[in-house]
Amino acid sequence: MTNDKAVFVDELNKLLEDPRIVKLCTFPQHHGSNTLSHCIAVTKKSFELAEKFGWDIDERELVRGAMLHDYYQYNIKEEGLSAYRHGTSHPKIAMQKADKDFHLTEKEKNIIRGHMWPLTLAHPPKSREAILVSLADKEVAAVEFVRPELRKARKAYKRFKDRTIK
Ligand SMILES: [Fe+2]
Ligand SMILES: [Fe+2]
Repeated sequence: MTNDKAVFVDELNKLLEDPRIVKLCTFPQHHGSNTLSHCIAVTKKSFELAEKFGWDIDERELVRGAMLHDYYQYNIKEEGLSAYRHGTSHPKIAMQKADKDFHLTEKEKNIIRGHMWPLTLAHPPKSREAILVSLADKEVAAVEFVRPELRKARKAYKRFKDRTIK
């Protein structure tokens, strides 16, 4: 396996200096998260999974595809979209906007277009990088969904314990 973490970090840092990427922090994601921190988490998880599976990847395309996979730039609630409608439509919107701003390779386009598969059945991931981002996105989203619930449960448990266990 030849994946170079220094190249990965360098590409990630380069994108994080771009104000168009930084602006993603103004768009909310799953419970309490924002699109920038979500995309950073997905990018790091994608590289971790590549290492875990022993898959050779193109570091630059992985970082760009992962960091731009949710580049749709709207607030889901403000747009009044159902979860299903947003789920099926945002990969194409993100791909088009990201291509306009960052001039994507075909692989990068597919990473973004295919990240919600199998929900978007006609657009499967076609590379190792695209599979990694699709898997990482689901894993990170699951944690983001569960984390606030876990926090609430811990608080409730603590209140219960303080009241009932002396
Ligand atoms: Fe997404
Ligand atoms: Fe995502």
